[in-house]
Amino acid sequence: MSTDVMKRDYSLVGPEAEHARETGLADAEWFMPTIDPALLRELQTRSDRRAAIDTVLWLSALVGAGVLAWVALGTWWAIPAFALYGALYGGAADARWHEHGHGTAFRTGWLNEAVYYVACFMLWRGPTVWRWSHHRHHTDTIIVGRDAEILFERPPDVARTVFAFTHLQGGPLMFWRLCKHAVGRIDDEARDFVPASELRRVVWESRVIVGITAAVGLWSLITWSIVPLLFIGLPTIYGAWLMVFFGLTQHAGLREDVLDHRLNTRTVKMNPLFRFLYLNMNYHVEHHIFPSVPYRALPKLHEAIADQLAPALPNTLVAYREIFSTLARQSHDPNYEIPLEVPEVTGATPERIHVGEEHWARGDRAADLGALEDLAVGELRRVDVGDETYVLCRISDDQVALADGLCTHGEVHLCDGAIIDGQIECPKHNGRFDVVTGAATRKPVREALGVYDIAVEGGRITTRFRRRALAPDRVASKETARP
Ligand code: FES
Repeated sequence: MSTDVMKRDYSLVGPEAEHARETGLADAEWFMPTIDPALLRELQTRSDRRAAIDTVLWLSALVGAGVLAWVALGTWWAIPAFALYGALYGGAADARWHEHGHGTAFRTGWLNEAVYYVACFMLWRGPTVWRWSHHRHHTDTIIVGRDAEILFERPPDVARTVFAFTHLQGGPLMFWRLCKHAVGRIDDEARDFVPASELRRVVWESRVIVGITAAVGLWSLITWSIVPLLFIGLPTIYGAWLMVFFGLTQHAGLREDVLDHRLNTRTVKMNPLFRFLYLNMNYHVEHHIFPSVPYRALPKLHEAIADQLAPALPNTLVAYREIFSTLARQSHDPNYEIPLEVPEVTGATPERIHVGEEHWARGDRAADLGALEDLAVGELRRVDVGDETYVLCRISDDQVALADGLCTHGEVHLCDGAIIDGQIECPKHNGRFDVVTGAATRKPVREALGVYDIAVEGGRITTRFRRRALAPDRVASKETARP
C-alpha cells in the first residue's frame, strides 16, 4: 500500500459520514439516462403471474433438495444434496429478499411482504433493519460513510474476500447482531437509518428469528443430532457461497463516491439458470437506476438503455477476472480505479409543464395544464410553478390527479415514478402514496403528500392549485395554494 494513503472510515457515524454530507454526496441527485416514457411505463407494470411461477419453482426446488438430503442421510450423497439445499436456502433467498423487499416482484403487496419475511428469516436479516439499510444503499450507493452495504473496504484483502464465500465470519456476526437487537441493544449503525418509531419492531423481529433458530438448536441438542440444524439455521452459512458469488459482481472493485451508477455498479450477462437463481439482478446498473422496474423486465430495460451505459461484461468468468485483478491491485493501491468508459450523454431531463403567465390567462385564475389527450394513462408529468413543483398524473381514462412533486421521504421528483394500482410509486425507494388522498401507503414514505384540486373542462386539464383535505398522516404543510 502506498504510504500516503490512509484507510478510510466506512462506518456511518464517523468523519466520512460528515464529509459525504458536506461535499453533497449524501442524498444527491444521480445520473439518469433517457428512455421513452411509454416504454418505461410498460416496463414498470406489475403482475403476480411471473413472480408466482418463480416463487413456486424456487420453493419446490428447495423442498425437493431437502427431501433428497433427508433420504440420503448417512450416505455420501447427502453432501451434494445438502449443498444444493443450502444454495437454494442461504444463496437464492438473497435475490428473493431483495426483489420482494422492493415490492416489485408481485403486484399484490402482501405476497411481496410474505416472501420478504421468509427470506429474511433464512438469511438472518432483521426485516426492518435491512429494509431501511437497503433504502440507504439506494440513496447513497457506495458513498463512504453513508452506505451500510459496502462489502469491500479499501484496501481490500483478497484472502478475506475468498474467505467471505464460507460465510463463517459474516454468518455468525449477523446472528450475533440479531441476538443483540433481540435484547434491545440496537447498534449505532442501525439507529442511523432506522426511524426511532420502528426500533421496537426491530427488537421483536429479532426475537422471533433468534427464538425459532434457538429452538431448532435445542432440538439438535436434545436429539444429539446436527440434522435439524442442517435444515434450518446452518444453511444460512453453508449455502451463502451462492449469495456471495452473485453479490460480489454488483459493486466490487468499482468506484466509490460517484453519483453515477454506471461507474459504481456492474451489469454482467448471465445464463438462464443463474438469472433464475439471481432474479435477473445481474442487470444491476439498470436496477439501481430504475428500481421501479421489476426483475422480469430488466433484460428489456437493458436493451433500451445499453447504449448509454458502460458495456455489460459478457459472462461471470470475465466479471470475476476483473474483480479479482482489481481487488489485488487495490490491495496495494487503494486509489486504483477500473478505467471504465461510459458514453458521453447528458442524461434525461423530464418533460415538464411550466405554469407561467400564459397559463393564468383565464379570468377565474385557473391554470391550464394542457389537453387531457396529451397525457397518457399511467403518465406522470412534472408541473413547475415558480419554486413550487407538482406532479400531474393520469390514473385512468377519465381520472387525473395533481400532487406535490417531491417525495416526502427524499428530495426525489415523483414524475420519474410509476402509477401502481391507484398509487404513485416513488422512483427511488418504491415508497407509495394514494393518488386521491395523498396518504403514505408503502414504506419508506411515512408522511403524506399534498393533493390539489383538478378539473377537466372541454378536454383541458385545469387547476387552481388549491390543496384538498390532507390525509391524516400528513405532518408538514407546504406553502398555501395559489389563488
Ligand atoms: S425518496 Fe425514498 S421513497 Fe421516495
